[in-house]
Amino acid sequence: MPERFSEVLRAAIRQVHEQANGAAYIGKLLSGELALADFAELATQHYFLYTALEEVADSMRHDPVVGPFVIDGLRRVPALAEDLDFLLGPHWATTIEPNAATKNYCQRLRTVARRWPGGFVAHHYTRYLGDIAGGQVIRAKLRTQHGITGAGAKFYAFDTIGNTVLFRRHYRTLLDSTGWDELERAQVIAETKYAFALNEAVFAELDRDLAG
Ligand code: HEM
Repeated sequence: MPERFSEVLRAAIRQVHEQANGAAYIGKLLSGELALADFAELATQHYFLYTALEEVADSMRHDPVVGPFVIDGLRRVPALAEDLDFLLGPHWATTIEPNAATKNYCQRLRTVARRWPGGFVAHHYTRYLGDIAGGQVIRAKLRTQHGITGAGAKFYAFDTIGNTVLFRRHYRTLLDSTGWDELERAQVIAETKYAFALNEAVFAELDRDLAG
């Protein structure tokens, strides 16, 4: 039986995943050095990124490759809007800005999606599967470090996708049934690794701008 692409992809990102987890910013987040204002800044960058991700997803809903990945329960922008409302107050929408790394990330996502559905899936996978798994660690930090469990942490609460273990299993079957040939699989892996690099660049900029 041929190897499942989802497993190949998961193995292929192991190293970049470890590298991203080793980012100085993530270290500070995990060790409790981030003020609530810093979490608000992270949510701000997420807001711009997910707006791009979900606008593109909506526009590709009928694409045969992307369509099955456009799952309404994943949608994060409404949760982020609630989080920002709580973290920054009612005027957040007119005051927040993406940082340079986030702008670059959004631009790449939009450009890739225009010419290549598989490239968009690489970005979709990197963010959503990452948030469903690793995001739970950040959610726990918001709770233990800042006492936030509802608004302010909704981005990390995937209440609308059912059991997350089953969801991740379903997502893997989607990755396995795209029909990509070897070349395209390699290209999707490369774009996924690039997505990790784009995330690291966002962390690096957030780290430089820490409120502390
Ligand atoms: C606080 C830092 C992080 C922690 C603690 C963390 C933790 C985890 C854990 C526990 C898993 C599940 C692994 C498994 O099922 O084998 C996972 C998967 C994943 N993470 Fe992270 N992660 C972090 C940061 C990131 C970042 C920054 C990204 C990229 C933006 C990311 C992307 C992913 C992806 C795409 C998966 C799914 C892999 C797969 O099952 O195919 N993670 N992470």
